[in-house]
Amino acid sequence: MAQVLESQRGPVTGTAVAKKKRRPFLLDLYSTAVGKKYVMALTGIGLIGFVVFHMIGNLKMYLGQADMDHYAEFLKALLYPIAPKGVVLWLLRGGLLTMVALHIHAAYSLTQLNHKARPVKYQSERDYQVANFASRSMRYTGVTVLLFVIWHLLDLTWGVVNTVGADGEFIKADVYDNVVRSFERWPVALFYILANIMLGIHLFHGVWSLFQSMGWNSPRFNEWRRSIAAGIATIVVVGNVSFPVAVLAGIVGG
Ligand code: HEM
Repeated sequence: MAQVLESQRGPVTGTAVAKKKRRPFLLDLYSTAVGKKYVMALTGIGLIGFVVFHMIGNLKMYLGQADMDHYAEFLKALLYPIAPKGVVLWLLRGGLLTMVALHIHAAYSLTQLNHKARPVKYQSERDYQVANFASRSMRYTGVTVLLFVIWHLLDLTWGVVNTVGADGEFIKADVYDNVVRSFERWPVALFYILANIMLGIHLFHGVWSLFQSMGWNSPRFNEWRRSIAAGIATIVVVGNVSFPVAVLAGIVGG
């Protein structure tokens, strides 16, 4: 019965690619602009959750070395002894990586779809600029955040671009010291500050448009949209920018 219904079902929307052999519903939906927007919005919500919790976790820097290092240890022991140490953290990392990959793929293929839908450019340069400001700024800020995350992992997770401790070795578990040593280099601190401002712009536009993508845009709710987008972006930027500033000012690690 389910098979009969599956074969009778038409394409999800006009932009779904009509194929002789029908694909599973989710893949069919993902071939449409609406489906890609859903994926962008849902993975975006997950990634916002990560950056907010990551920032809150990093506030332990203000409680001192022991609290910060203990927090990193606590993350490794999530749900221990129900699950062996590290397993839950690796599952969360897998989820995070999947969301990043889907978010980037949906953004890329949505751009391709838009180019196909409008092979002739807008006639007025001004209209073109207005229509594309948000999407272009999302592309630039998104790529900057991605490059920042690569540097960030090389810096604080693998220690490749971090200055090593007195014994010449990068010790991953010494999270507090690693962060302080990294931000004591002012060009690195400046890079973190600029990258986090880019992240803030990305979050502001992203939260704003995810309401649209999910269809949460009743006129009554629209007043809240801008405030929610600005609120989330501000909390993340202020929290994250405070860490390099606090290290440079000698408030943390001094
Ligand atoms: C100034 C702000 C930030 C500080 C102080 C900070 C600090 C840290 C530290 C200390 C670690 C290593 C934790 C460990 O291995 O035990 C880490 C990992 C990580 N951070 Fe950040 N972070 C900041 C901002 C960000 C931002 C904005 C993003 C994403 C846009 C991000 C994404 C990540 C990721 C993906 C990891 C790897 C997580 C893992 O493998 O478990 N961080 N961060």
